[in-house]
Amino acid sequence: MELTNIYDTFTLNNGVKVPCVAFGTYKAAEGDNVEILRQAVACGYRYFDTASFYGTETFLGQAVKESGIPREEFFITSKMWKDEMGYEATKEAFAKSLERLGMDYLDLYLIHWPQPSPGCEDWKTVDAETWRALEELYEEGKVRAIGLSNFLPHHIENLMKNCHVRPMVDQIEFHPGHTQETVLSYCREHDILVQAWSPVGRGRVLADELITELAAKYGVSPAQVCLRYALQRGVVPLPKSSSEERMRQNRDLFSFEISGEDMYRIGAMPPVGWSGEHPERERVRL
Ligand code: A2P
Repeated sequence: MELTNIYDTFTLNNGVKVPCVAFGTYKAAEGDNVEILRQAVACGYRYFDTASFYGTETFLGQAVKESGIPREEFFITSKMWKDEMGYEATKEAFAKSLERLGMDYLDLYLIHWPQPSPGCEDWKTVDAETWRALEELYEEGKVRAIGLSNFLPHHIENLMKNCHVRPMVDQIEFHPGHTQETVLSYCREHDILVQAWSPVGRGRVLADELITELAAKYGVSPAQVCLRYALQRGVVPLPKSSSEERMRQNRDLFSFEISGEDMYRIGAMPPVGWSGEHPERERVRL
C-alpha cells in the first residue's frame, strides 16, 4: 500500500492496524515533558512510544487527556523494564504503566530487552514466563497487540517454540549505517512488524556524506532521508524531537520517494552511528 501521511497504517499479524510513524518519548523527560508531548499532539502525532524505563508515561497520559481527543484516536505503546520480567512482575508492571498513563488499555505492550542482564543463564525461561503474562493480558483484552523489543532471531525462536500467541512486533535500533538485516529478514519471514528506535541515528549519520548528498538531491533534510528509508523498508520509525520544527520535519515524509538505486546505496553504506547497545553485551564503548 502506498503511504500518504502518518495516519496510514501497517497491519500486524493479528489484523490490528498501526500508524506508520510514531513519536518516541525516551528522554523527552529531560526537557519540559508535558509541553513537548502537547506539542507533538498538536503537530498531529497520535502514535506514542513510551516505556516504564523512560519515566514519560505520566506526562504522556496527561498530554493525551488534556488534548480532549478521544483515547481511541491514539495508539499507545509501552514496555516493561528488565527488572520487571517474569510472570507476576510483568502483570504488576503492566498495571502500573496503565495507572501512570491514566488509561484502561494499551494498544501495544512489549518486552523491552530479551535478557534481564547480559550473560543471564536462564533467559529462555524468563522470556517464556514474561510472554505467558503478555498472552494473558492480550487474551483478556487489556492490550490490542503484544511484541518484543531488541530481540534477535534466536530470542524470538525461543518464544515461538512454545507460545500460542505469536509476537506481532519487534522494535530494534535501525537507521542507515545500522540496519540489522538478520533481524529484518527473520521478522519478514515470520510476519513480525519491525519498528525502528533511534531512526535518525546519531549526529554522525546525519552528517554522513551519502545521507547529506541524498538530502540535497531530494530537497529534504538528512533526518527525513533516514525516516523515509525506514518507511520504504516497511519499518515503522519512532523519531523523537524536542523542537517543533523537527517534529514537523519528521512527520512530513510523503512528498518524495527514494529511488531503488539510492535505497541500495543506503543499505550498503559503511556502518555508522550504532548506539553500542546489544542485548548480549555490556554497553559497547565506541
Ligand atoms: P532534538 O530533540 O534536538 O530534535 P535518535 O537517537 O532517536 O535517532 O535521535 C537523536 C536525536 O536526533 C534526537 O534527540 C533529536 O534531538 C534529534 N533529531 C530528531 N529529529 C531530527 C531532525 N529532523 N533533524 C535533526 N535532528 C533531529
